[in-house]
Amino acid sequence: MKIIAYGIRNDEEPFLKQWVNEHPEVDVKVETNLLDENTVDKSKGFDGIVAYQQKPYSKQVINKFSEYGIKNLSLRNVGIDNLDIETIKKNKIKVTNVPSYSPAAIAELTLTSILELLRNSKRFQKKIELGDFSWEPDISNELNQMTIGVYATGRIGKKVIDFVRGFGAKIIAYDIYQDPKLKDEGIYVDTPKKLYENSDILTLHAPAVKENYHLINDDTIDQMKPGIKIINPARGDLIDTDALIRGLDSGRISGAALDVIENEVGIFNNTFDSFDKIPDENIKKLISKDNVIITPHIAFYTKPAVKNMVQDALNANLDLIKTGISDKIVKFD
Ligand code: COI
Repeated sequence: MKIIAYGIRNDEEPFLKQWVNEHPEVDVKVETNLLDENTVDKSKGFDGIVAYQQKPYSKQVINKFSEYGIKNLSLRNVGIDNLDIETIKKNKIKVTNVPSYSPAAIAELTLTSILELLRNSKRFQKKIELGDFSWEPDISNELNQMTIGVYATGRIGKKVIDFVRGFGAKIIAYDIYQDPKLKDEGIYVDTPKKLYENSDILTLHAPAVKENYHLINDDTIDQMKPGIKIINPARGDLIDTDALIRGLDSGRISGAALDVIENEVGIFNNTFDSFDKIPDENIKKLISKDNVIITPHIAFYTKPAVKNMVQDALNANLDLIKTGISDKIVKFD
């Protein structure tokens, strides 16, 4: 059984090696490059592909799998928004993902971001670097005094709710699929509008499906409680970045923490010689604001999460090769 693993980073290697040692019957080839038109040929002769990348898995690349007789693709992440789904379906490729590598990892960064925004950490840090240790005017509020609005209550949203509860904040949530336990607790509001109107802090945990594209836009920002803070550790496309910047400029939004952002591909997890060389004006504008925290899509980036991403994906790929099924198969409807 032969698996090729694309885009393996240094931090993933020990977890991959551990898995390989435990599965001597499997031949795993490590490929540090990402899977694209230039590297897809390397998958010839393999039974399965394991990959993670933010850039698209294009039609041409997927068509090549079929040409090479490869039917098993296992993603080391949860999101499937960079797959050409029509081509996947047409070629009958089985895809697995890792839906629950560590909800706590994402929820912990969410909490970190909420607290940093609330305590004006970026402003204090900037002042301190200039030798200014003064307090005023950057007095904070406290999380226990706030209403936190959670948009989508899947595994990650639920973990955020658990954590925020410990701080004594009031929690409200919106989701089209309501969790029975949270429903019994009366957490849900019945429209996104009610969530926006009543939240001091709004945190987004929805997937990048077309219905959620630019969920946060000029109109929905108008519905929000003045002074709201917005956290996005989910997907960049959920927020219309221009509208967010307008909201921040007008003061309607008093802070934002973005671990994901539109046009991040090619920028996040990349290095530029200087701030000026960052090839996106909106990202630069947001980085320059004292009340905005940008992190480069690192919510998932913890050792337990990365271990699960690597090893669950390899297990799923092996299951597909051996049996044609896996509990991690993605259902495309
Ligand atoms: C995902 O799992 O889809 C993520 O967003 C994390 C990814 C950057 C590895």
